[in-house]
Amino acid sequence: MNKQEAQKRIEQLRRIINQHNYSYHVLDKPDISDAAFDSLKHELYKLEQEYPDLITSDSPTQRVSGKALDKFEKVKHKKRMLSLEDVFYLEEFEVWQERIQKLVPNQKLDYFAELKIDGFAISLIYKKGIFIQGSTRGDGQIGEDVTQNLKTISSIPLNLEIYDKFSSGDIEKKVKEIIEKGKIEIRGEVYMAKDAFEEVNKEREKQGLSLYANPRNTAAGSIRQLDSKVAASRKLNFLAYDIITDLGQETHQQEHEIARALGFSTGMESYCKNINEAISFWEKVGKTRDKLPYQIDGVVISVNNNTVFNKLGVVGKTPRGAIAFKFPAKETTTVVEDIVIQIGRTGALTPVAHLKPVRLEGILITRATLHNEDEIKRLDVKIGDTVIIQRAGDVIPDIVKVIKKLRTGKEKRFQMPEQCPICNGKIVRPKGEVVYRCVNKNCNSIQKQQITHFVSKKGFEINGLGPKIIEQLINEGLIVDSSCLFSLTRGDLIPLDRFDKKSADNLIKAVEKSKNISLSKFIFALGIRHVGEETAIALAHYFGSFDKLKKTSTEELSSIEDVGEIVAKSVNQWFNNIKNNQFIDRIIKSGVIIQKQKLVKRKLINITFVLTGELDKLTREEAKTRIRELGGNVSSSVSTKTDFVVIGKEPGSKYDKAKKIGVKIINEKEFLKIIK
Ligand code: IVH
Repeated sequence: MNKQEAQKRIEQLRRIINQHNYSYHVLDKPDISDAAFDSLKHELYKLEQEYPDLITSDSPTQRVSGKALDKFEKVKHKKRMLSLEDVFYLEEFEVWQERIQKLVPNQKLDYFAELKIDGFAISLIYKKGIFIQGSTRGDGQIGEDVTQNLKTISSIPLNLEIYDKFSSGDIEKKVKEIIEKGKIEIRGEVYMAKDAFEEVNKEREKQGLSLYANPRNTAAGSIRQLDSKVAASRKLNFLAYDIITDLGQETHQQEHEIARALGFSTGMESYCKNINEAISFWEKVGKTRDKLPYQIDGVVISVNNNTVFNKLGVVGKTPRGAIAFKFPAKETTTVVEDIVIQIGRTGALTPVAHLKPVRLEGILITRATLHNEDEIKRLDVKIGDTVIIQRAGDVIPDIVKVIKKLRTGKEKRFQMPEQCPICNGKIVRPKGEVVYRCVNKNCNSIQKQQITHFVSKKGFEINGLGPKIIEQLINEGLIVDSSCLFSLTRGDLIPLDRFDKKSADNLIKAVEKSKNISLSKFIFALGIRHVGEETAIALAHYFGSFDKLKKTSTEELSSIEDVGEIVAKSVNQWFNNIKNNQFIDRIIKSGVIIQKQKLVKRKLINITFVLTGELDKLTREEAKTRIRELGGNVSSSVSTKTDFVVIGKEPGSKYDKAKKIGVKIINEKEFLKIIK
């Protein structure tokens, strides 16, 4: 993407993000998921990082969203309500830790980890122990007074009492004193439990009303409307995570203890003496989060020592000393680079979207299924579109939605082919069915055979890709033809039956290794009719480079020794087929390097060798290849047509036969001289 294109994309992204922001924060009616929204924001952020001079002060990356509505009284926060920086991957989390450690090099850091509840941030003020004011975050400085609504939430105490013991006598004394005389500010999250959310939606469905998108927005919407009866009917909850007032607490952990002692709930939490313990907590929560009664989207990890936390300071709207370590999103956005037809076991033609690689739930995704032509029409997806993809436990993700506002006009409509793209056979769409099928019974097996040939020892030599695995990859829609092998990822393979992490790694490594290939092996792998190993070698030696071979004529081909007219025609026809050229382009694009063939004098033309016994300096295969490279033939049996029998250690019966019929016998030394 050049700068001009980046600018256009940035402007489009800003427009769409602002609009979604409004639907989300002001109307509480999001039209795309949080994860997809995050993904768009991330794309904008990345582009702005690449072109920093395109950053403007009103870009959505430059402010915390959430605008105070006019309908409530404004409240100025005594201490700004901050936000948190997000990280999604372990590496990013470790980078955060290293960064802060560098800022306080002599400090042994310990942490406090807690749940990041997917709710709505609230500040509560208690005066002389009585709940007097509750407000939303708003823009961080000024929020809205939503005290009446908050009072309806039974987990928010209306007056503070000391319910539990304190671990520190000093703190207890100070808390008591302030409860009696002063003000205490506590912050936390208002949320709606999953079952309460379902109940609300069931009720709305009964009444024919539109359904709420998620518990977070329902909670926010309930707090930010004027009629407190609505809030009261909504079964909202509150979890505390921060105490703003100085009650003598020295650590974040103590703030949680104080909150609990005063009758607030806090979520699952853990003191972590080092970063590894924090990572373990994140992993543990990630595994069980679906079982929690409320939605969380990550874990908040804070530097436990408050003095150090404050020393680390604030950058923009986020404190350096805390981070939201999020769980991998189940949705993300990416671009459809191509739509390719895959033929399944039953001959069904399935369109598959080839995507710009993107990580989803920690796995690199390169394809999404489009199911059938009707689905393409329903989604109205075009090549070049930005789309939202989702993994719903399946191997291959679905496209949920096209973000049409990001279209540039260059997107291309996909046309279902009129013939089978594999065998060029007839395709039919039976009445009442949504899928087209190739009716050529052999079609799929031809495709399988072609791929098997492509990866065989004489071709790309990809170990670990047997016929069963090839069939599985085809049926899962991961490969359509051999060119797709080069874009397979670990993430494609790990979920499959026959694979685990190790075998997936091995196969990916074997594919990578195969990418550097000799010209003759490459020509062989293409599976051109009548082009076996010897012809492939002959062609490689005559042309030296693949480009020269591609451009040749039937006449030139027929003039090559060892290449007859039939072979010449077949080679020429193969290269004249546009699909074959596209196939080659795809292979080259995925990083395959075809080595140039050193042009050697083919001095052994028409000379036939037979090999017997073990050679010292060469393997049998190497000897054969060398003979062929020099234009010679290798035969497996001795006859009067044999020119040389090469004998190694412990020669077999071929040696005896050669002696009997008087064929010239040479030892390894003499042979090496000939092939030098
Ligand atoms: S700490 C210094 N702890 O996440 C920042 N926030 O992205 C104060 N949230 O605005 C936030 N659970 O609405 C903190 N255990 C938790 C949280 C939490 C949810 C929300 C909160 C905040 C947002 C930051």
